[in-house]
This record gives sequence, structure tokens and C-alpha cells, in this order.
Amino acid sequence: MEMDQLVALCKRRGFLFQSSEIYGGLNGFWDYGPLGVLLKRNVKDAWWNDMVQAHNETIVPPGAPARYEMTGLDCTVIMHPQVWKCSGHYDLFHDFMVDCRESKRRYRYDHILGRYVAGLKHGEGGTAASRVRIFATTMETENTQDALEQAALKFFGLRKKDADSLEWDGEIRALSSLPGSGSTGGGAIGDILGNVLGPDAKHPGTLTPPREFNLMFKTVIGALGDDDDASFLRPETAQGIFVNFKNVCDSTRVRVPFGIAQIGKSFRNEITPRNFTFRSREFEQMEIEFFCRPDQSSEWYRYWRDRRFRWYIDMGLAGDRLRLREHDADELSHYSCGTADIEYRFPFLPPGEYGELEGIAHRGDFDLRSHMEGKLVRKGNELVLERDGAGQPKHRGSGKDLSYYDDLARERFVPHVIEPSAGADRATLAFLCEAYNIDTAPDEKGQPTERLFLKFHPRLAPIKAAVFPLVKKDGMPEIATEIYGELKKTFSCFYDDKGAVGRRYRRQDEIGTPYCITVDGQTLADETVTVRDRDTLQQWRVPKADLAAELRERLNGC
Ligand code: GAP
Repeated sequence: MEMDQLVALCKRRGFLFQSSEIYGGLNGFWDYGPLGVLLKRNVKDAWWNDMVQAHNETIVPPGAPARYEMTGLDCTVIMHPQVWKCSGHYDLFHDFMVDCRESKRRYRYDHILGRYVAGLKHGEGGTAASRVRIFATTMETENTQDALEQAALKFFGLRKKDADSLEWDGEIRALSSLPGSGSTGGGAIGDILGNVLGPDAKHPGTLTPPREFNLMFKTVIGALGDDDDASFLRPETAQGIFVNFKNVCDSTRVRVPFGIAQIGKSFRNEITPRNFTFRSREFEQMEIEFFCRPDQSSEWYRYWRDRRFRWYIDMGLAGDRLRLREHDADELSHYSCGTADIEYRFPFLPPGEYGELEGIAHRGDFDLRSHMEGKLVRKGNELVLERDGAGQPKHRGSGKDLSYYDDLARERFVPHVIEPSAGADRATLAFLCEAYNIDTAPDEKGQPTERLFLKFHPRLAPIKAAVFPLVKKDGMPEIATEIYGELKKTFSCFYDDKGAVGRRYRRQDEIGTPYCITVDGQTLADETVTVRDRDTLQQWRVPKADLAAELRERLNGC
């Protein structure tokens, strides 16, 4: 499947629209249309149901080291500015960006890919050719070498048929990984950039050295607000959970181990939002902070890693596009003893590359301690308070005691945290990509034709059943509307009496409706209706009176 086809389908059938489209759109912001809102809500409901609502705290689930409880929160998007200072986001949550002086575009430094290439280049005004070696670049694309070749041909003034005269050397690599390029803009970066042809530039040497760019959206609280009243839109939902840890312990009877779940919007001022909803500036997260005894945290990390991976498989990402990737030790955050990513091979990524759907991180006691004591940094094997030049704490914590007293073990400790952190939009996009299917099926005249259908898991399908009268006469619409009214009480349904029935089936296939129900001539005689399966195209008759029960069973309680 080409990504363009999916994007076109999403717009045509009302899954996703670009935000503020009539004003030219706003980069990195997306609106969910009538079907998209149902699909994404089903993703979030499935997550909440499986992680929180249906969790049985009276038994030890398979693979878990013990029984545990789950509860929820819904915190504000704007929080006290000190939250972000102690969490580390104020000082550390940034990407490096480079600007192009020629194209006036801005790029994320680590997203620029390139390769050295040499060729003959004529000087200005057609003067004699000399041999020039540049580092040609492109932004991550599906076929990077093709994109680099195009950029190089354009630079050297060559046609496609002359591509053999280019001499490539070295591997395709990120610009930020060239020896001496560093991330800080220091060192030999100036010399290196002199030979770099920016992704949209005609001349080499137009990229600026990389600069830090904080990804949090800043806002001001109150009408008279000045810089002291500045706060931020949350870049993750997690911090709302940490700062409410004590409230939850004090107001409920939860005991460690337990988890707090939250679904909500997060905001990041991404430098280069792209790949449809994959990297947006406003998106939704589904996060769990799971609090446990420090000596059991490794077991709980493994439990959540495996449980979350299985969830995606159960929801339909069962193919080889899904993988679980454990981070190498050198990739781990300073406080983490283990992190794994659940990744999906999205069609817009270069071959062999995967995009992150969810991270499962062992966060130790970093977060609770930071909100107690102040911003921490690693010193050797210890987490210590970060101090400014005068030896004062760089960012003071709340000073509140966020430790936990285990009255059975008669022990006080700061719980360790396992964090499964998922993106609702990325999961929705992966389910859309995986569901996109084309097969061949007979049309109304029995001729084999191409059929596009979205093979969603029934729990995720926006519409569970569509009801059609075969024709708009002989009492069929009356029976069909009665069935529709009944089914609608339990399932999200769609009624359609327009056009040939074959075309109505195709329209439902395109939006992933698992079952279509048709009232036809035989219904008038024996009170049965036809049920058609989206995936197998099989049709069978069911007594009208048994329809709701039959669908309930087939949809498995959705
Ligand atoms: N609290 C940990 C945390 O926020 P993260 O890896 O930065 O970790 C978690 O984000 C998940 O949120 C990601 O795996 C991804 O699914 C989603 N996410 C992060 N940035 C995103 C963006 N710009 N657009 C869409 N989803 C995003």
C-alpha cells in the first residue's frame, strides 16, 4: 500500500482532515472526522477497558509477579511551571535544529540523511568544469538513495541518463553522525557544513550549525501575565500522575503494586512534524505509571513489556510489521534499568525502518524523588540534586513526602515506576495501515473487480453493522429501519438505502464495517435477513428475531 492511497481514503471517507484546511492547513495538527473519531475512541476504549476496567485485582494475571490494582486520573494540560523544571523537561526536552539560509526551511538535525558524492561541475557562466565533492542530503524518505541521486544530478546539472558519472562514497548516514559534526554546534561543524548541500538548497554551505530548540509550547497564565507567569502545555501526561501520587494513595485504598492510567492530549512543538499523524504537534497519549517495590521492579518491567506487546497483536497487528525492540544499555535514560519500544513498520518509512508506537520504561524512583527533592542528575551510580554555580538546588522540588509506607512489611520506600507510554494517534494510524487491504471480488454483474476493504478488528471498526433494504418499496425500508433502530441501541450502525446494493456493500467495505444486513424479498416471506461478512464475503440468512444475538456473538461483546 502506498501511503498516499491511505491518506486519500482517510480524507474521502471522513477519517482524518488537516486542521484549519480552508485556511491552508496548520502543519502538525490533524482533525478526526466522523469515522475517525469513532475509530480513535474505540482504540482508547479498548486500551482503557483492557488495562483498567477489565483488570481483575483479585487474581495474579498470567506472567505477573503478584496481584495488582489499577486506577485512573484525568489531569490538566497546564500545570505548575515547577513541574517541568523538576521533571527535566525545562532544561532537557529539546531537539537540535538547523536552518537553511537559502531555502529558509528548518530541519531536525538528526533527520537529515546524506551521502558523499563527487562529480564534474561547471562554474558560473559555463566556465571550465572542476571536480567537486559534496555531502548530498535529503529528509528521511522511503527511497533515500533515489532522493539523494536526484539532488546530486540537479546540483551537477546532469540528466538521469548521466547518473553513472557520479561517484558515491561511504554509506548513507545521518548528517548529525558525521565525525566531528557533534550535536552542540561546536568543533569542526563549520568546516563540515561547508560541503553539505541542504535538502532543498541549490548551493552547498547554506545550513546553519545546529541549535537547541525546546519542544514545549509556552503560554502565559492570566491577563496581566509576564514571564514569571509563563507555563507550558504538557508534553506528556505522565507528570500529572506523579504529582498526584500522594493524593491517589490518600484518597483510595490502593496498595503498592498498583498502576494509574491516564488518556489525554499532549503537545510538542515538533521541528519537523510529518508522516501524516505520526509526528504531530498535538496528539493523545495513553500512559500508565505503575508503582512497585524497588526489588520487584525488573519483574514488573518484563510483565508490562510483554503484556503491552501482546495487546497490539490481539488488536490486529499480528503480522511481521510489528516488533518489540529492547534498548541497548547505551540508549537507556540515565535513571532507567530497562526500556523497550513497540514498533511498527509504517509504509512511509524507508525499507527496514520502524516507527515507535509505545515505549515501556523502567524509570526507577527518578520521578517521585525529583518532585520531592528537586531536579536530579546522575553522578556515578547515584541520582543527586542538581546544583547551580552557588551550590543551591537548580530547581527545588515540592518538599512533600512522596514515599510509601508498606504497613504489612512495615517498611517505607520510594516506589519504583514502570511506564508503558503509548500514543493513541500512532496506534490508530498503525491500525489503519494494517487494515488496508485490496482483493478481487465479483461485482454486481459477476465480473471480478478490485475491492478495497479495511480489515479492522471488530472492536476497532467504527461501524459494526450496516442495514440495507434491497429496494425502496414493498415494505422493505420499514422492516430495515425497524432493525436499524433495534441494533443501534447496542452497536454503532449505519442505514443506507441509496444506489445498487453491491455499491452499498463496497462503501461499507471501504470503512471496515464487519457485517452488512440486507432486507430482501425473502424477508417478507419468512422474516429472515441476509448477513454478509466483510472479509470472507460469505452470506447467510438469519431470522430477524435472532439478529442482535447473532451479531453480539460474532462481534464478541464489542
Ligand atoms: N512519558 C513518556 C513519554 O512521553 P515518549 O516516547 O516521548 O514518552 C510516548 O512518548 C508515546 O507518545 C510515543 O511512543 C508515541 O506513540 C507518542 N508520541 C510522542 N510524540 C508524538 C508526536 N509528536 N506525535 C504523535 N505521537 C507522539
